[in-house]
Amino acid sequence: MSERVLVIGGAGFIGSHLVDLLIAEGREVRVLDCFHPAAHTRRPEYLNPKAELIEGDLTDPAVAAAAIEGVDAVSHQAAMVGLGLDFAEVDDYVAANDLGTARLLAALARADFRGPLVLASSMVVYGEGRYRCPTHGDVRPAPRDPADLEAGRFEPPCPVCGLPLEPASIGEDAPTEPRSVYAATKLHQEHLCGLFAREHPGVSVTMLRYHNVYGPRMPRDTPYAGVASIFRSALAAGREPRVFEDGGQLRDFIHVADIARANLAALGRRGDPVAYNVATGTPRPILAVAEQLSEAAGPAAPRPLVTGEFRLGDVRHVFADPTRAREELGFEAEIDLARGMAEFATADLR
Ligand code: UD1
Repeated sequence: MSERVLVIGGAGFIGSHLVDLLIAEGREVRVLDCFHPAAHTRRPEYLNPKAELIEGDLTDPAVAAAAIEGVDAVSHQAAMVGLGLDFAEVDDYVAANDLGTARLLAALARADFRGPLVLASSMVVYGEGRYRCPTHGDVRPAPRDPADLEAGRFEPPCPVCGLPLEPASIGEDAPTEPRSVYAATKLHQEHLCGLFAREHPGVSVTMLRYHNVYGPRMPRDTPYAGVASIFRSALAAGREPRVFEDGGQLRDFIHVADIARANLAALGRRGDPVAYNVATGTPRPILAVAEQLSEAAGPAAPRPLVTGEFRLGDVRHVFADPTRAREELGFEAEIDLARGMAEFATADLR
């Protein structure tokens, strides 16, 4: 692997774990981070003192140029994530995620960069996961009808016959269909990075489609946080985790230490642009995850409450087939949910 690595977003939840791992592996690390208020309520105390820190915004061309100067590899982990507050944040998401990536790629192009570039992507690029109809085979359900959700009909029906579907694990070659602004920006980032690689022979672009990440340093309950941190924050405040829909929606929860290991493997990969699912391969219903976390928080901790509420931007089921990452990156998740959640129940959130 290359000597000097730039981790953009290296002060964040996932980026900081990658920084620690790279330094433990003997790499020189530079961090670029803007300490975005959606991710940082306060200055993190865990920043690795062995990493060089540039505080700045990637959307500033001068910052982007300074950050990439002299680096052999780039890992882009910075983004606005989640559903946010409302659609009016679309310009903030596009600026941070799309324009930020564009500035990075423009700077890399000008510097004639030839190293590996790893992009943090997400399973949200798929939209709904994969579904099979017993009669019509693989089908793509339409976005769920708000009237169905109001009536408690949470499972998307077969678009051909309207009958129930079986969810199945999704592979990287499945069609993409972003269902939120965040998802649209992640897909656009993938496209831009892929185009950059095709126009710059020698550059290896690896896109990691994270599934539901949890673990220490996860930002606490905000409109931008994933469900694990929302449940964890509720328990820490003595409130019950509020489980939306009927709790049967399936997700694949993966520990941040495993995500860091997948990134390390991706930085060592050379070749044409490829996307990898980064997941454990074992999906769980959201209610089961809430129960596991509440049990791990102790016998006095509040138990989850299934509320029947829903969010329009949510998909019903999405979980992955992690085979490609195992075969090509040699990556397999190591931390099982029981162990990870037991630790997470008492871990520091920010
Ligand atoms: C999540 C993140 C996304 C991240 C991706 C992969 C969103 C909104 N969130 O997608 O940023 O990139 O994982 O790591 O895109 N839920 C509850 N109670 C709550 C909050 C949520 O039951 O208080 C439910 C939701 O309805 C949903 C599930 O939990 O069914 C997962 O929610 P969340 O983690 O926000 O979204 P993901 O689509 O899994």
